[in-house]
Amino acid sequence: MSDNIVIAIDGYSSCGKSTLAKALAKKLHFVYIDSGAMYRAVTIYFIRHQVDMDNPQAVSEALNNIHLNFHSRDYETHITLNDEEVSAEIREMKVSEQVSAVSAIKAVRDEMVKQQQRMGQSKNIVMDGRDIGTTVFPKATLKFFMTADPKVRAERRYKEMIANGAQISLEEVFENLAHRDYSDTTRKESPLVRAEDAIILDNTDLTPKEQLAFALDKVKPFLQ
Ligand code: DC
Repeated sequence: MSDNIVIAIDGYSSCGKSTLAKALAKKLHFVYIDSGAMYRAVTIYFIRHQVDMDNPQAVSEALNNIHLNFHSRDYETHITLNDEEVSAEIREMKVSEQVSAVSAIKAVRDEMVKQQQRMGQSKNIVMDGRDIGTTVFPKATLKFFMTADPKVRAERRYKEMIANGAQISLEEVFENLAHRDYSDTTRKESPLVRAEDAIILDNTDLTPKEQLAFALDKVKPFLQ
């Protein structure tokens, strides 16, 4: 039996999951896997090829033609879709607007979950997403469920997007987050719920440094 450590981080959109996951991975020298990036890359393919999401055959064909790869550098997410670097494009609003619909498709989830489970088979990893502690790794070593005030989340994401050159209003960002929260928590296929054994981390009033200290304290007992 493998005794690698898996840290699962789930929670709402834009509540700092990736900031924590990256910081933990860096500190512990674990591999960081951004599962949301995978759903986003699949969404790019669906948009470009106008895949009919209601047609199971079309979805299945698309999935057969999609090859995703992570390449790690400085603990940032670098992902390729059929060998093309899409790390910047996955963050664009057109992708954020469609990703909830694409990630609600059962066949898409089944394929992504399979790939994610493979990545965590033998390595120490930190993976963030929506169903990591419930579906992907129900037996994860440690699970966090992150949350924060929706207004604070929207302001953080807005600042990040503006800094990256996006032309967007705070209201649009807030609406997109509210829409994704709703869709992620009410979808039929593995909706976002807190695993019973997940530690709740509300970071509304925490700095990244403080949330890292909180999480490291919980991880410590599992490190030799
Ligand atoms: O973490 P993120 O915002 O980049 O994720 C983008 C979308 O992908 C999110 O709205 C829901 C979906 N997602 C999912 O359904 N399951 C995951 N494990 C990760 C993301």
